Amino acid sequence: MADDATLVQTARAARERAFAPYSKFKVGAALEAADGMIITGCNVENSTYGLTVCAERVAVLKAVSEGYREFRRVAVVADTRAPTPPCGPCRQILWEFCGDIEVVLANLTEETGRYRLKELLPLPFDARLLG
Ligand code: THU
Repeated sequence: MADDATLVQTARAARERAFAPYSKFKVGAALEAADGMIITGCNVENSTYGLTVCAERVAVLKAVSEGYREFRRVAVVADTRAPTPPCGPCRQILWEFCGDIEVVLANLTEETGRYRLKELLPLPFDARLLG
């Protein structure tokens, strides 16, 4: 299991690969699977704007498509003084595949926040409701 600093550093490196020519707001994510593997994501924007995909979702979808199904932590990095938390749709996607994981938020120099996903999505919709 990677230490927090390594996970955050990995998210910072992923952020460098962001494709964000429109917003110029680069985000990196590093998702730790149960076996310790770290899967990264960065935001990938599109000229239509609406087809932009956030860093967190890129990481989750990459991981799931590679066969990972259990996760422990995710680090999200943006160049902001205040914490940059996952957006609403990303919280939902994270919940679907990761459940109540730890979410570590950081900027380029320091950690800015630490939450359980349940704190960020207190009343989630999920498969249990489908019966
Ligand atoms: N973005 C992310 O990648 N993750 C977040 O947690 C917040 C927002 C991206 C989407 C878009 O490319 C840019 O940041 C500005 O919203």
